[in-house]
Amino acid sequence: KYNKRVFSGIQPTGVPHLGNYFGAIKPWVDLQKEDGTEVILCVVDLHALTLPQDPTKLRENIRDMFASILACGIDPKKSILFQQSSVSQHAELGWILGCMTTLPKLEHLPQWKQKSETMKEVPLGLFTYPVLQAADILLYKATHVPVGDDQVKHVELCRHLANLFNKKYGFVFPKPKVITGDLKRLKSLRNPAKKMSKSDTDANSRIELTDSDDVIRQKLKKAVSDFTSYISYEPESRPAISNLVNIHAAFTDLLPEEIVEESLALDTLAYKERVADVVIANLAPIRKEIVRLRGDTSYLDEVIRSGADRAAGIATDTYDKVKQLVGF
Ligand code: ADP
Ligand code: NA
Repeated sequence: KYNKRVFSGIQPTGVPHLGNYFGAIKPWVDLQKEDGTEVILCVVDLHALTLPQDPTKLRENIRDMFASILACGIDPKKSILFQQSSVSQHAELGWILGCMTTLPKLEHLPQWKQKSETMKEVPLGLFTYPVLQAADILLYKATHVPVGDDQVKHVELCRHLANLFNKKYGFVFPKPKVITGDLKRLKSLRNPAKKMSKSDTDANSRIELTDSDDVIRQKLKKAVSDFTSYISYEPESRPAISNLVNIHAAFTDLLPEEIVEESLALDTLAYKERVADVVIANLAPIRKEIVRLRGDTSYLDEVIRSGADRAAGIATDTYDKVKQLVGF
């Protein structure tokens, strides 16, 4: 009945920022609207454990991520939204796939190197992260995986593992295709050489979906710009102001060129106020809904419980077949 089954995961980093919203969550909401497309979304708490976590904070971050995804428009009746650790087959299939891959296949992947740069020793989970990610995708026999550029190599490994398994044991897994969005990466408001990120220690570098109107306005006022006072869209030579234009464009569906055109009379200070107006108007309803959902504990519990049931239904079917094929 579906010709496209999309799987995507997001780490429970708490309330998302604008980069997460436009880079991941909003594209999911658009996919949910497509006829013939089933969307499966996983809050990947097993993946979160690859870096140190405080248990109380992790639990809060998981619930905040659920509330945020719902507030942005994911309908838990249409799409499957669930918590990774509630479906044990992720870890189980991950183990089997891990037994089918080798160190050299993982060694060249860039993410574990970046994330362990400042560590003395590399946690094993961080190194095998892409194997677990392959299990996430394959358990649901996903046909399409929307990811950022940094994850393309991981989906290639997933395709390789699907192929290896199918050849050795018999066909189970379709090879998933990558969907890469057309969004330009949103940059840090404090340093446009870096992407907007939750891991940035400067909270002024990003706008989060629950930021108050005042906080949004302050962060945009403090956003770095350059010594030129007019507005133009030149991502190479004027990355800071172009990033603000990109944020503005993402909210309005105007092209950067059209935004420049309508902002000819504004200097950068006035333009920041204009961007603040746009961001505030669009985020206010989402913020209200996140706050409401956070408080509605029983509804959130029910979404998490029923999402786990629906995901487990699919995962169990796939994994039972896998067990039989490998000889368990
Ligand atoms: P963070 O760096 O904040 O921890 P992640 O790397 O966990 O974000 O990414 C979560 C999702 O959000 C991914 O789909 C990623 O592509 C997207 N994303 C993160 N930051 C940005 C950004 N600055 N611009 C666009 N998309 C982003
Ligand atoms: Na749909």
